[in-house]
Amino acid sequence: MALQDVSFEIDRGQIFGLIGPNGAGKTTLFNCLTGVYRPTAGSFVLDGKNITGLSEVKAAQRGIARTFQNIRLFQEMTALENVMVGRHSRTAAGLWGALVRDKKTSNEEREIHNKSQQLLEFVKLKGSEDLLAKNLPYGHQRRLEIARALATDPQLICLDEPAAGMNPSEVSGLMQLIRNIRDSGVTVLLIEHHMKVVMGICDQLAVLDGGERIAHGPPDRIRNDAQVIAAYLGTQH
Ligand SMILES: Nc1ncnc2c1ncn2[C@@H]1O[C@H](COP(=O)(O)OP(=O)(O)OP(=O)(O)O)[C@@H](O)[C@H]1O
Ligand SMILES: [Mg+2]
Repeated sequence: MALQDVSFEIDRGQIFGLIGPNGAGKTTLFNCLTGVYRPTAGSFVLDGKNITGLSEVKAAQRGIARTFQNIRLFQEMTALENVMVGRHSRTAAGLWGALVRDKKTSNEEREIHNKSQQLLEFVKLKGSEDLLAKNLPYGHQRRLEIARALATDPQLICLDEPAAGMNPSEVSGLMQLIRNIRDSGVTVLLIEHHMKVVMGICDQLAVLDGGERIAHGPPDRIRNDAQVIAAYLGTQH
């Protein structure tokens, strides 16, 4: 059983941290929430509406966006194009409009282009618009994934270990970026092993171990929770 009896609530406008040792079930929970897996039991409720078992496309349309633990960019596309793809989930023009290039379609294309530029600026990737995703440094690729997720206009963004592989100065920049995302009105669900990030920016935390929620509360309480310390370090310590 990958997840069992895991239950928590996230308030609008929070940065909510989901932590736990390797293999605890954190990414699996993201996969259930974002439509990659269909859970066999339990439910997800967003704004009072049951959203359990939606497809990935439907989850995005409902306002849930995510990034991936193992970066999944369109490697052969530019940074700008990667963000524009994310934006297409919010546009109306179809194949016909694209073929005949009517006014509505070209206006929409311009809107996608401008919005994507703004998002690249927001994640501090201005100047890298035309670089292929595969040629960006690792930390930039992580920020580009965040921009692509934001392009879907989410109300909840789920970040799976965004600080992984970042150097200390990139980590500080990332912490500020996540706060800025929250300040822009997007609720953040954050999986992260980097404790400086978790303890520094999260309002609330849930701790998973072996697929179960072993603790839940504000960072200060979690930091001193005996069961959490044991899960991370083992009882010998
Ligand atoms: N598709 C799958 N089929 C079978 N087992 C899986 C599958 N995906 C994950 N698991 C297992 O489920 C458990 C939870 O994995 P998950 O990737 O959710 O952990 P995690 O908390 O994200 O860990 P990490 O911090 O290492 O990323 C692990 O034991 C993993 O091996
Ligand atoms: Mg994981």
